[in-house]
Amino acid sequence: MLRLLLTMLLVMTVTTMAVAETVSITLPQDKVALAPGPGADAAQTQCALCHSLDYITMQPKGPAAQWQNVVTKMIKVFGAPLSDADARAIVGYLATHYAP
Ligand code: HEC
Repeated sequence: MLRLLLTMLLVMTVTTMAVAETVSITLPQDKVALAPGPGADAAQTQCALCHSLDYITMQPKGPAAQWQNVVTKMIKVFGAPLSDADARAIVGYLATHYAP
C-alpha cells in the first residue's frame, strides 16, 4: 500500500513538473500590408485582432454590400469589438480598395 502511494506521489510530482515547464514558440511574421488610404489604419489594427489580414486580401473582391456583410458578421457572430465609426470607416475603405 505504502509503495503504491509513493509511486502515485512520484507520478503526480513528475507530471506537475512537466506541466510547469515553460515553452516558447516563435510565430511567423504577419507581413500582409493593406492598400494605403483613409480607413486603412482602422482596418490594419481592428481586423488583425483575431486573424491575419490575408483574410481580407485573399477574399474575392466585392462591392460595399459584401464588405458590409463581412464586417457585420465579424461583429455579430465573432464579437469583433468595433465602434460604429470604425465599422463604417472600414466598410468604406474595403469597398474602395477591395472592390472589383
Ligand atoms: C473577434 C475576432 C475577429 C475580428 C476582430 C475580426 N474577425 Fe474576421 N473572422 C473571425 C473568425 C472567427 C473568422 C472565421 C475563421 C475561419 O473560419 O477560419 C473570420 C473570418 C473572416 C473572413 C473570411 C470570410 C468569412 O466570412 O468567414 C474575412 C474576409 C474576415 N474575417 C474579415 C474581417 C475584417 C474585414 C475584420 C475587421 C473589420 C475582421 N475580420 C475582424 C474573427 C474576427
